[in-house]
Amino acid sequence: MEKKDVSVAAWNERFQKATPQDVLKFFAEEFGDRLCLSSSMGAEDQVLTDMLVKINPAIRIFTLDTGRLFPETLNLIHTTKKHYQANLEVFFPDYRQVQKMVREKGINLFYDSIENRKRCCQIRKMEPLKRALKGMQAWITGIRKDQTLTRFGTNLVEWDTENGLVKINPLYRWSEKMVWDYIHNHQVPYNELHDKGYPSIGCQPCTRAVAPGEDARAGRWWWEDEGHKECGLHVKES
Ligand code: ADX
Ligand code: SF4
Repeated sequence: MEKKDVSVAAWNERFQKATPQDVLKFFAEEFGDRLCLSSSMGAEDQVLTDMLVKINPAIRIFTLDTGRLFPETLNLIHTTKKHYQANLEVFFPDYRQVQKMVREKGINLFYDSIENRKRCCQIRKMEPLKRALKGMQAWITGIRKDQTLTRFGTNLVEWDTENGLVKINPLYRWSEKMVWDYIHNHQVPYNELHDKGYPSIGCQPCTRAVAPGEDARAGRWWWEDEGHKECGLHVKES
């Protein structure tokens, strides 16, 4: 698909005041089985899963198992799939690339340099993401504007140049509180680490708990400078 085939600006205008559910309903019809949700099993993605399966239980959801996830996250993949009877698929990295990287740089290479960390994210997340998005026309993510400074410019609908797809961020204007109110009001299953000081959860070696009052993403790649803290999944052209 090409950018000229879609009306990103018109959709943003049209859905300015719409609820995430209205947005999801519209795009579920618009793109049918060419629409998917990319879920990290984080709080936002669990909200979106709950909303989506209530609209259409067949909607495709995928998660990228990097091989370095927390056991609590793996448990949540299992319980979420069962709870919703969801069409939730797990994608894994290419073992040959992982093997080569680990042989050359060591299994915890990411602490040694930003270059190493990006290589690990490329092999364990970006390459599987490309496979997961193959054949799709639009993907849904749980990104919110107030998660980081770099995400402040997030819009509801965007053109994803890197992947040649429409990117939909239905919770882009939600606060963290709105996410948690939804989870509690709808008994949505969530990662038990959230109750142990982990607001944002990625791979185990690259995520730590944060102190009360600390920024929600302070525990992600905590040893790096602020400007580098994206794995590449959501890096925009500037
Ligand atoms: S990250 O880029 O820093 O890792 P974050 O954890 O904030 O991203 O998640 C933002 C969105 O990226 C999620 O809502 C989800 O749509 C997508 N995402 C992140 N990690 C994964 C994953 N492991 N599998 C699938 N989607 C993911
Ligand atoms: Fe590798 Fe850490 Fe990136 Fe996970 S978050 S893919 S372990 S560098």
